Amino acid sequence: MRLERQSHCKVNLLLNILGKRPDGFHELETLMHPVWLHDELSFEQTGSSVALTCSDPSLPTDSGNLVFRAAASFLAAAGIEQGIKIHLEKKLPLAAGLGGGSGNAGTTLLALNEMFGGPLPAGRLQELAAALGSDVPFFLQQNPALAFGRGELIEEIPHLGALGGAAFIIVHPGFGISTPWAYKELAKYPSALNGTPGRARKLAQSLAAGVVHPATTDLYNSLEAPALNKYPLLQLYQEFFRAHGCASLMSGSGSSTFAIAESLPQAQQIAEEFRSKFGPSAWLATAPCLKPRP
Ligand code: C5P
Repeated sequence: MRLERQSHCKVNLLLNILGKRPDGFHELETLMHPVWLHDELSFEQTGSSVALTCSDPSLPTDSGNLVFRAAASFLAAAGIEQGIKIHLEKKLPLAAGLGGGSGNAGTTLLALNEMFGGPLPAGRLQELAAALGSDVPFFLQQNPALAFGRGELIEEIPHLGALGGAAFIIVHPGFGISTPWAYKELAKYPSALNGTPGRARKLAQSLAAGVVHPATTDLYNSLEAPALNKYPLLQLYQEFFRAHGCASLMSGSGSSTFAIAESLPQAQQIAEEFRSKFGPSAWLATAPCLKPRP
C-alpha cells in the first residue's frame, strides 16, 4: 500500500512568551494559522525498518530527521513490526519559523495511522506528537488554533472571519534562525520574556468576530526582540509590507516574515513589488488564508 500526502506549514499571528519554566522550555500562548503551501510525503509498506529519503541533501535521513522519529515512534507505539519506506520532497524553507519539519512529523503520524487501519486513538497520537516537538500537535488538525503550555496544548478555532478573503505573503530571507538560539537570547529582553497572558485569545476573538481589519490588529511576537536586533533586514521587510497596507510580523522563531494582504491578487502584486525592491535571493510565496477547495 502506498499513500501520498501534502504537508502544509503555519504562521504565528501572535506568539506571546509568558516566562521560562523549570524544565527549560518557555510557557507561551500563541495563535497559529495554517498556510496552504506544502512539502510532499509518500509512504510505502515495505522491509522491516524505517527507510527515509529526502530531496534536500542537507537534511539528515536518520533519527536526526523528525519524519524518521515520527515513523519510528508510531511503529513502536502501535506494536507494528513491519517496515516503512518514506520519501520527503522538501519545498518549504528550513529553520524558517513556518513549522515545516513539525508539519512533516504530524503528517507522518496521521498517514501511518491511516495506512495501518487506525490502531492509535487521537489522544495517543497527540502524546506522540507532543513528544516529537512543541509545534507538532497543531499539525494533527487543519484549523487555526490557540496553543498553550510549551505550544503543545491545542484549542481549535474553526474560523477566523476577518481573514475570509485575505491572503498571506511569506518571505524567507535565505538564512535560517535556530529556535534554541532565539529562546536563549530572550533572556536579554526581560519584557519580551515575561509577557502578560490573554493577548492570544483576545486576538482570536476579534478575528473570529470578523469586526477588525487584520492590518489594524495587534499581531505580536516576543521572539522578534532578539531576531530583529541581530537581523535588521527582517525589520526592513516588515516596513515594506506595512507601507503597502499589510499587517506584517516574523513567524515563530524566524527567519520568515509574513504579511496579510486583502486578497490573493493583491498579495501577488505586492510580492512582485517586493521582488523588484529586494532582488531575487529571498524565497517568496503567496497563498489564500482559507484552504483552497480541492
Ligand atoms: O519543542 P521543540 O523541539 O520545537 O523545541 C526546540 C527548542 O526550542 C527547545 O529545545 C527549546 O530550546 C526551545 N523552546 C522553548 N520553549 C518552547 C518551545 C521551544 O524554550 N515553548
